[in-house]
Amino acid sequence: LPTKISLGPSDAFFPIPAALIVSGVEPKHNVATVAWIGIVSSTPPTVGISLKKDRYTLQLIREFGEFTVNIPSASLFKEVDFCGLTHGRERDKLKAAGLTPIAGKLTKTPIISECPYNMECKVTQELELGDWVLVLGEIVETSIDEDKIDTSNLAKIDIATVDPLVYCAKVRQYWSIGKKLGEGFGAGKDILKEK
Ligand SMILES: Cc1cc2nc3c(=O)[nH]c(=O)nc-3n(C[C@H](O)[C@H](O)[C@H](O)COP(=O)(O)O)c2cc1C
Repeated sequence: LPTKISLGPSDAFFPIPAALIVSGVEPKHNVATVAWIGIVSSTPPTVGISLKKDRYTLQLIREFGEFTVNIPSASLFKEVDFCGLTHGRERDKLKAAGLTPIAGKLTKTPIISECPYNMECKVTQELELGDWVLVLGEIVETSIDEDKIDTSNLAKIDIATVDPLVYCAKVRQYWSIGKKLGEGFGAGKDILKEK
């Protein structure tokens, strides 16, 4: 067994998504990169995103009470990085990155056309955590590009085609997802049988 080296208290975590959060409503809309993100409830479907207090995104989310989560493909990693390097108070980042805002179904906040998977969220709670704020949003609608799902079975998202961007914090690296290994809630059954 390998020897462990202590790294101390740390927020290093990997792999995680690097999502594009759209906030605000035309003409006051904005996009920012967020890697502190995760699903925190299934009923109702809820996503948590953590934002530092100075983010323009947080200001707009508080003003409009909603946001959208847009999952980029790996090929968009430069645009994603750009959206994490500058503040939306200073420029229209969607325009500068060549990203197209399109109407959501249930939020006034737009979704991003170039991102294959999108979630529309209404804010339900906020929790202050030091310099950061955890914002919880109920996911009221999701959408996916037609060519990335089996339209006769909507459970079958083609992950290889979505090719979601992967981020590794601390080392600050973008990766792509790699190859499928097996089925969730299935692969472990081999071990279950042995017990
Ligand atoms: C890969 C990556 C991940 C990031 N994750 C977060 C995050 O989870 N929360 C956050 O507040 N900022 C995060 N940032 C920084 C913001 O995207 C950045 O401060 C941005 O300028 C905020 O834009 P805004 O002020 O227009 O909202 C991340 C940046 C990068 C490049």
